[in-house]
Amino acid sequence: MYNFLRFSLVLLLAQALTAWAAPSSARHKRTYDLHITWDTYAPDGFEREMLLVNGQSPGPVIEATQDEWVVVRVHNYSPFNTSVHYHGIEMRGTPWADGVPGVTQRPIAPGCMYTYEFETTQAGSYWYHAHFHGQIEDGLYGAMVLHPRKSDPKPFHLITNSSRAVRAMERAERHVQPLLVSDVTHLTSGDKQDITVAAGIEITCYDSVVFNGKGSVQCLPEEEVAAHLSPVQQMYLSLIPGLTMTDKACLPAEALNLIAGGGGNVSAIPEGVYSGCTPTEGSVEVIHAPEPVGCPSEQWVAIDIIGAINFMTAAVSIDEHDMWVYAMDGGYIEPQRVQALVLTNGDRYSVLVNARRAGDFKIRVNAVSALQMLTGHALLSVAGTPEDTSESEPFINIVGMPLSEDVVFFNQAVAHPYPADPIPETADELFVLNMKLDGASYLWAMNSSRLMPEDLDHRVPTLFKPEPNVRNNVTLTTRYGTWVDLVFFASTSPMPPHPIHKHGNKMYQIGAGTGPFPWSSVQEAMQEIPEQFNLVNPPRRDAFATLPAETDVGWIVVRYHVTNPGPWLLHCHINNHMMGGMMVIIQDAPEAWPTVPEKYRNYGM
Ligand SMILES: *[C@@H]1O[C@H](CO)[C@@H](O)[C@H](O)[C@H]1NC(C)=O
Ligand SMILES: *[C@@H]1O[C@H](CO)[C@@H](O)[C@H](O)[C@H]1NC(C)=O
Ligand SMILES: *[C@@H]1O[C@H](CO)[C@@H](O)[C@H](O)[C@H]1NC(C)=O
Ligand SMILES: *[C@@H]1O[C@H](CO)[C@@H](O)[C@H](O)[C@H]1NC(C)=O
Ligand SMILES: *[C@@H]1O[C@H](CO)[C@@H](O)[C@H](O)[C@H]1NC(C)=O
Repeated sequence: MYNFLRFSLVLLLAQALTAWAAPSSARHKRTYDLHITWDTYAPDGFEREMLLVNGQSPGPVIEATQDEWVVVRVHNYSPFNTSVHYHGIEMRGTPWADGVPGVTQRPIAPGCMYTYEFETTQAGSYWYHAHFHGQIEDGLYGAMVLHPRKSDPKPFHLITNSSRAVRAMERAERHVQPLLVSDVTHLTSGDKQDITVAAGIEITCYDSVVFNGKGSVQCLPEEEVAAHLSPVQQMYLSLIPGLTMTDKACLPAEALNLIAGGGGNVSAIPEGVYSGCTPTEGSVEVIHAPEPVGCPSEQWVAIDIIGAINFMTAAVSIDEHDMWVYAMDGGYIEPQRVQALVLTNGDRYSVLVNARRAGDFKIRVNAVSALQMLTGHALLSVAGTPEDTSESEPFINIVGMPLSEDVVFFNQAVAHPYPADPIPETADELFVLNMKLDGASYLWAMNSSRLMPEDLDHRVPTLFKPEPNVRNNVTLTTRYGTWVDLVFFASTSPMPPHPIHKHGNKMYQIGAGTGPFPWSSVQEAMQEIPEQFNLVNPPRRDAFATLPAETDVGWIVVRYHVTNPGPWLLHCHINNHMMGGMMVIIQDAPEAWPTVPEKYRNYGM
C-alpha cells in the first residue's frame, strides 16, 4: 500500500514536472477523433449514402484557442480513400497536416488512420472538409471555432461607444455559434462524377440548402420562377426556342451544353438530376438567443456563417435584423452594418445580431447563381413572448435581390482589416493565370492546363519531392520572403465567378478590372488605371471570387507574402470546377520547407 502510494506520488510529481518543463505548445493539445463511415442519412429529408463524421453530417465542431495545438485523428471506416483539409488554417511548420493527397500526404486508405497535428496560429471562423475528389459533397465537413487571444484588439468599439455593449459583444463572440450553409445534391459524389463524364456536361442542379445539416427540398412554383428570371437567364433560355427552367428551377442541361460548345450528350443525364422536384419535410436548424432582459442594447448573438457550399453563390439575410459583420475568413475587419451578404464557396462571415425582440426570424439563403434558383432557411429564435406572432418580414426575395432600396449588402471592397494591415507598394513577382473552360462544360483550367484530382491520387506528394526549378502551367514556385502578385484572368466569356482559394496563407485583393491584363507588373498597370487598385487597406482573405465575365474577359489581382514555406494548392472552390481540373500547385519557398517527419513520409507506403 505504502509503496503503491509512493509510486503514484512519484509519478504525479514526474508528470507535473514534465508538464512544467514542456514548451507551452505541448501542454495544450486538443484532441479530436473523427470516425468516417459510409452510411444512409437524410439531411434534407431525403435518404442517401453519405460520408458521416462520428455518425453525423456535418461532423463535430473543432474548437480551440489561438496558439494551441490541435490533434485530429481521422479514422477511415469508409470504403474510399480520403483526406481532410483544414480550410484557412496556415499549417505553419506542419505542411503535412494540410490534407491534400499528392501534394502534402498520401491518401488515407480504407481501414487506416492519419494524425493531423497543427498549431492554431490564427483565430476566428474556419472549417474542415474532405479534400479527396468530390467527397465534400458526400457530407464530410464541419466547423472550426478558434477563439482569439484575450489581449488582441477587437473591433467592437467601432460598433458602439457603450462599454457595456462592447462587453456584451465580447461575451457573444466567446459563445459564437457556427452556421454551416451547404447546397445538397441527392447524387453521391461518385455517381455525380460518372454522370458528368458520361454526358460531358457539368451538373449544376442541386436539391436543397441545409444549415448545420438541416433543411428540406423546396419546389418553387412555376409562376414564381418565371416572374424572377434574370436577364442572363432569359438570354440563356432563348438559345433554344420554348425552353423554360425545369421544375427544380434549374437552367436545363441543353442550354448549359450549348453555352459550353454543344459537345455533350444530354440524354446521358438520368431523370431526376435536372428535373423531378419532390418536396420533403426535413428539419429546420434553429440558432437560439436568450430572452431579452435588461438593456436591449446589450442583447447580442454572434454567428459564424460558413459557406460550406459546393456550387451556388447565395444571398444571406436575417429577417428584420441587421448584421454587424465583424470578421471575414477569420480575420477582424472594420465592422459593416448590413441587411444581407453574398456567400460563396468557402467564405466565412462572423456577424453580431442585436436580438432584442422575442420571436422567430428566418435566416434566409437564396441562390443568386444564373443556373438555378435555390432557397432555404434556418431560424433565429429569440426566447420570450413575442409581441408580434406574424411571419417575419424578409429583406431579400427568392433570388437574393433586395426588396427595398434601404437594404445594404456587405461590401468586400471596403472590408478593411482591423487593425490595419499595411502591404508594400510593389511586389517582387507577377504570375498571370489564364483561367478557361477546357473543351467541355465540366472541364476547367486554372492556368491553360488542367490538373485533375486523379493526377494527384497516385503520385509522390510534392512535399516529399520538391521541384524548385519547375515552373509550368500547373506548378508555380516562389522564394522565401518575396511578395507575389497573382492575376486570375478570366480569359473567355461567358465565365462564372470562380472563388479561388489558396492553401497556406491569406491574400489581399489589390485590384480588379474588365478586359485583358497586358501589363507585366501591377506598378505598370497602375500608371494607366490607378483607380482600379487599392494598396492602402485592401481586403484580406483566403479565397477571392473572380469577376463574372458575362460579355468581356476580366481579372482580379491578389498579393501575398511568402512566409509559410510549403506546397500549397490554389484552386477554384466550386467542387465541379476542382473536379474538372481547376487547380495549380504553388511551391512556396521550397528552399525552406521543414523536414518531413518519417511517420508522414512513410505513410501509406
Ligand atoms: C462615439 O462617439 C463619438 C463622439 O461623440 C461619435 O463621433 C461616434 O460616431 C460614436 N461612435 C459610435 C460607434 O457610436
Ligand atoms: C448519349 O447517351 C445515351 C444514353 O446513355 C446513349 O444511349 C447514346 O448512345 C449517347 N449518344 C452519344 C452520341 O454518345
Ligand atoms: C501559365 O501558362 C502560360 C501558358 O499559357 C505559361 O506561359 C505561364 O508560364 C504560366 N504561368 C505561370 C505563372 O507559370
Ligand atoms: C501550357 O499552356 C499553353 C497555352 O495553352 C500550351 O500551349 C502548352 O502546351 C501548355 N503546356 C503544357 C506543358 O501543357
Ligand atoms: C486508394 O489509393 C491507393 C493508392 O493511390 C490505390 O491503390 C487504391 O486502389 C485506392 N483505394 C480505393 C478504395 O480507391
